[in-house]
Amino acid sequence: MTLVQRWTQLIRTRTVAFFAIICAVAVVAVSCAGGGDATASAGIAPEMVADYIHTVMAADRTAYTKHVVNRVKTLEGKENAEGVLNVESTEGWQQTDGIPLPAQMFRLGAEVASESGSAFTYNLISPWYLNDSHAPKSEFEKTAMDATIETGESYKDYQEVGDQKYFSALYPDKAVAEACVTCHNTHPIHLERYPDKVFVMGEVMGGIMINIPLEAA
Ligand code: HEC
Repeated sequence: MTLVQRWTQLIRTRTVAFFAIICAVAVVAVSCAGGGDATASAGIAPEMVADYIHTVMAADRTAYTKHVVNRVKTLEGKENAEGVLNVESTEGWQQTDGIPLPAQMFRLGAEVASESGSAFTYNLISPWYLNDSHAPKSEFEKTAMDATIETGESYKDYQEVGDQKYFSALYPDKAVAEACVTCHNTHPIHLERYPDKVFVMGEVMGGIMINIPLEAA
């Protein structure tokens, strides 16, 4: 092998290796770009973002129930022996100088959040809704609600509404306390609309829907 031949071979090997590196970088770049769909801001998977948001919402609702509502002397007309605050937590809180029920507090928060103009939304939904704004509306919400009621687990998927792509998750809202069941089962709207539906402890009563906007589809 002449010196020139050896050089040519060396250059060829190096060139091949160089192209191999370029290709590898390109593949990584493409797969990262392709993964853009699966990542929300700062590269956190949308499933995780939804789980975090849900944790905060569920914690706030439980804390409000436990540390505020449980301390009132009256809950929707019923006396609470352990209550220390001379107010009532009631659906008609605005008319009676009372304080909102936990589900109302949750909806009030969702309304304030949507006023911020962000495409991110969340809401309580249920097939046995007392408040009309909690009816499962889109096909996606109906499918997610049916699946959650059947499995007792959260339902997560991508969906497109208009040009906007979302990662959406529905988390089951279960009857964790006797009060959930008694209040809903005896509510006049429930009795009128769903006379045959009697909630039992542990049952999925509805769900918390979270919609996280992703980059434009
Ligand atoms: C004292 C009565 C009361 C109690 C206790 C109560 N709820 Fe509700 N719940 C309501 C009312 C009233 C609404 C409608 C609130 C609104 O207007 O946003 C509601 C709304 C909901 C919704 C949304 C669908 C709908 O009916 O509009 C779900 C799901 C729900 N409650 C689940 C629960 C669970 C789970 C518990 C227990 C952890 C619970 N509720 C405890 C009265 C009650």
